[in-house]
Amino acid sequence: MIAISDREFGVIRNIVYKNTGINLTEEKRSLVIGRLYRYLKESRYDSFTSYCNHLLEDRTGKALNDLVNRITTNFTYFYRESRHFDFFTSNILPEMITRLKNEQSNDLRIWCAGCATGEEPYTLAILMLEFFGNRYSAWDAGVLATDISEKALRKAISAIYSSDSLRKVPSMIKRKYFRKVDDRTWQLTEEVKKEVLFRRFNLINNRFPFKKPFHTIFCRNVMIYFDHPTRLEIIKKFHDFLVPGGYLIVSHSESLGRSQDLYRYVMPGVYQKPWRRLSTANSVQTGITFGTD
Ligand SMILES: C[S@@+](CC[C@H](N)C(=O)[O-])C[C@H]1O[C@@H](n2cnc3c(N)ncnc32)[C@H](O)[C@@H]1O
Repeated sequence: MIAISDREFGVIRNIVYKNTGINLTEEKRSLVIGRLYRYLKESRYDSFTSYCNHLLEDRTGKALNDLVNRITTNFTYFYRESRHFDFFTSNILPEMITRLKNEQSNDLRIWCAGCATGEEPYTLAILMLEFFGNRYSAWDAGVLATDISEKALRKAISAIYSSDSLRKVPSMIKRKYFRKVDDRTWQLTEEVKKEVLFRRFNLINNRFPFKKPFHTIFCRNVMIYFDHPTRLEIIKKFHDFLVPGGYLIVSHSESLGRSQDLYRYVMPGVYQKPWRRLSTANSVQTGITFGTD
């Protein structure tokens, strides 16, 4: 096993933090070794020092890209934390439809930030197809799905998944929207694929490049990897990019805290941007506490 010194770990930790916001605390040292060890061996680096030197010297962006692909945790599956999806179909969609009808608009904007290999935004697309049925085409209702990992996005775009990833998919939905490739592999139908637009986007970018605010932002199991100031920044930016009354959904184990004026707490992991700014007394704090998944 190639050992990693404090200096080498420090170099990797700084590069990752500066470029992704991911906070590799001391406990993540063995994760870093585990994720990079085989790569170093295969690429014939004799030590972490030579790898760090390459990272620092590379001007093409390729070394950083490879590092991001290896360090990010892209674990996800269809219908993960399904209570949020139940809330999406039973509350958010009816609420947003009523509102859009009043506004004489058909433009429903959903953003899945930190979508990993695509199971979460595809689940949202399936839910919308089921919800609207044959009225779907009357709505402009796809999902924007973004992630920093280009490797995860490639898999998302291929839309080919193992049976394990589909373990929570109801059988009726599986029959309707998936085609069997072989005994262990399934591919999503075009009907679902075309409803999700995948883009690479880094959540720590200063500027969010969106023209219009979203009705709902899912960002589940992503900010658990960031430190407090980074989460705070992103949560504020999400607020700027939500319509009044729009929802921010983080994972069940993440909480935005309880006494500040950006969001109204709805249920575990679900927050609403108020129609009007809340007073400190009844609103939600971004003094966030985050559990791990
Ligand atoms: C554990 S996955 C969460 C997937 C999905 N949201 C879910 O809950 O099942 C976390 C994702 O966050 C992405 N991520 C981490 N840092 C990011 C950043 N700075 N910008 C965008 N995505 C990031 C990772 O690449 C990874 O795919």
